[in-house]
Parts: sequence; C-alpha cells; structure tokens
Amino acid sequence: MSVRILGIESSCDETAAAVVADGRQILSSVVASQIDVHRKYGGVVPELASREHLRQIVPVVREAIAQAGMKLAEVDAIGVTQGPGLTGALLVGITYGKTLAAAMGKPFVAVNHLEGHVHAVFLEAHKVERSPRLPAVCLIVSGGHTVLYEVKPHDDAAGDGIQLFRYRKIGQTRDDAAGEAYDKVAKLLGLGYPGGPILDKLAAAADGSPAPVKFGPTKTRGNPLDFSFSGLKTAVLYHVREHEGYGPEIRLREEALARGERKFEQLLPLCGPKTLGLVREFQNTVVRDLVERTMSAAEKLQAGSILVSGGVAANSQLRATFEERGKKEGFEIYFPSRALSTDNAAMIAAAAYPRFRAGIFADTTLNANAGLALA
Ligand code: KG4
Ligand code: ZN
Repeated sequence: MSVRILGIESSCDETAAAVVADGRQILSSVVASQIDVHRKYGGVVPELASREHLRQIVPVVREAIAQAGMKLAEVDAIGVTQGPGLTGALLVGITYGKTLAAAMGKPFVAVNHLEGHVHAVFLEAHKVERSPRLPAVCLIVSGGHTVLYEVKPHDDAAGDGIQLFRYRKIGQTRDDAAGEAYDKVAKLLGLGYPGGPILDKLAAAADGSPAPVKFGPTKTRGNPLDFSFSGLKTAVLYHVREHEGYGPEIRLREEALARGERKFEQLLPLCGPKTLGLVREFQNTVVRDLVERTMSAAEKLQAGSILVSGGVAANSQLRATFEERGKKEGFEIYFPSRALSTDNAAMIAAAAYPRFRAGIFADTTLNANAGLALA
C-alpha cells in the first residue's frame, strides 16, 4: 500500500493543496493564486494574503482530495509549510493542517518551504523515471529567495532513493531576490505585476533590438557564490530616468494596464526597440549571473547534478542557457515543469514523505517560522 500525504502550502500568495503518493507520484495538485488581489499594489500585501488564504483553504483542500479520487479519511499524513514566508499567511495553513491532523488522528509533518522547492525537482525527474545524482548543487530562485545549496544524502538515508537530504548553504543574495528584481524592473517600466513572465516574453521578442546600455557582471566581495541584484535594478532605473524616450511609452503602458490590458500581445506594440533592448540586456545580466555562479559551484563541489527551482526557474532564457552550459560542461541539469517551479503543495507533500518515513512529526504546538532556515 502506498503512503498518501496531503500537502498544504500557504507561505506567500498561493493557497495550495496536493496529494502525493510515496513522495513522488502526484495524485492531485491544486493552486489558487492571489495575483489578481495583489496586482494593483504591485506586490504581495501580507494582510490581504492572510485573508485570501482563509477564504481559499477549505475549498482548495477539498478539491485536492476530490481530484485524487479519495476521501479525506484515507490520507495517511498531513504535511504543512512551516516557513519561511509571511507569518499570517503561514498560520492559516498550519492551523488548518494541525486541526485536520488532530481531528482525524493522522501524523502531522512540518515542512520547510525551501526543501519543498528542492523536492519539486525530484518530483519532475520521477515523471521520466530519473533521479538526480547526489551531491547536487541546487539553485532556488524566486520572488523571495536566491540561494545556492549543496544537497547530500542524509546519514540516516532509507537507501531506496527517497531519502532525507542534508543541506549546506553555499551562496545567497546579499539584497534583492532575482524575482524581486524582475518585479521591480517591470513596475518601473510600466509592465505590471508579476514582472517575470512578461519580461521573459518581451526579452524573447527583442531579437535584433540592440542593447541601449550594457550592464557588466555583478561583483560581490567575499563569497564569490553570493548574488546581488539591487545594483542592477538601480542601474535600470537611472538609465530610464536619464534617457529620453522611455517616459511617454511607460505612461502609455500604464494606461493600458489600468484598462486591464496586460497581456503580452497587448503590451508588445507599446514597447519600442529601445525598451525591448533594455529588457533583453536586463535579462541577459540576471541569467548570466545565476548561471555563472551555479556552474562554478557545481565545478568546485564536483556535483553529480545541478537542480534549478523556484518561480524564476520558469524563465525560458535561464532554462536554455543552463541546458547549453550543462551539455558543454558535462553536468546533468534538472528543472521542474513551470507549474512545479512556482509555489505549489505537491512539493510540500513530497518533502513531507521522508520525514514521515523517519518518524519526524510535529504536534499541535507547531508555530509559523517566518525566517526558517534550511541550512
Ligand atoms: O516561487 P514563486 O512562485 O514565489 C515565491 O516564493 O517568490 O516565484 C514568484 C517569482 C516572481 O518574482 C515572478 O516575477 C518570478 O517568480 N517569475 C519569473 C518567471 N515566472 C515567474 N521570473 C522570470 N521569468 C519567468 N518566466
Ligand atoms: Zn517559493
């Protein structure tokens, strides 16, 4: 009999629930995004996020159970994101999860959201019957995080491929996360929220538009595997302020956004070649930085594979560049699908499984931990 775990995720602006069998087979995965709620503020508003989670949590869990073709009572354990994230948002998932677990007498497992992003890669690999070789270097790159980990098997590994991992943090952003830089640059260019998907598409449409400015590689003192993105964001801001021609276009796009016209096809005609060239150069700089540091970590640690996860892992240029470099330098690169890259609960259920197997349970005293570290 397989072990079926209900995962619950509410750390930021997605209310999600999923059922995963034996840590690797997704039986259902439901994600209710709050993007429409937060869009007009240009970022996640914590108070609104908590309120939305409260509205969504019950129907989302019910839907995940129904899509898995199960009854709630048939779940073997409940795994919930404990942190990192927004305290008020986390508390909704935790309170609901522990109440369910207590009422049904089921084991309750606390999951680190970042460990969930690592497991998202393994879930995807499992679909094609693969398992990334360890030790791996894992880049988690999202709106809230940009961090590099070394992932090794835990000493008490079960030995059947689904095991507890051991993590070592080897690099992290000193300031903004890469996704945050995407969101801020999109906002200042009048391209809406979130910034990643639209900038990704515009950069791809920039073929032949020369870069109006060149951004060099980002230098960080100290740890060469640390990232920094706030300087790049500021460089884009100054360039736009100091050069004529951007302003009128930005206003046109802001008017379009106010009319609800935020699709790529609607915004592309409002972007001149200079804007497209700028977006492309911004993306080139972010992608080059993420790829260079991750490849250099993999080389240094003689990693068996490279894992890339988190919302920005959905970026098409990042994926293509990693694939190309991986092939050239002899590293296997693993990405989750786009749906598993951004926040979801299947990754939380998957990360809960090895803990369930090892008997690492939480009880009703579990609290949210906004700054929970993985290593
Ligand atoms: O992992 P995620 O859903 O939530 C966080 O934990 O932050 O990531 C959301 C972030 C946002 O900043 C969004 O702009 C970015 O991921 N993102 C992208 C793309 N799709 C989403 N960034 C670059 N290219 C994309 N295609
Ligand atoms: Zn995340």
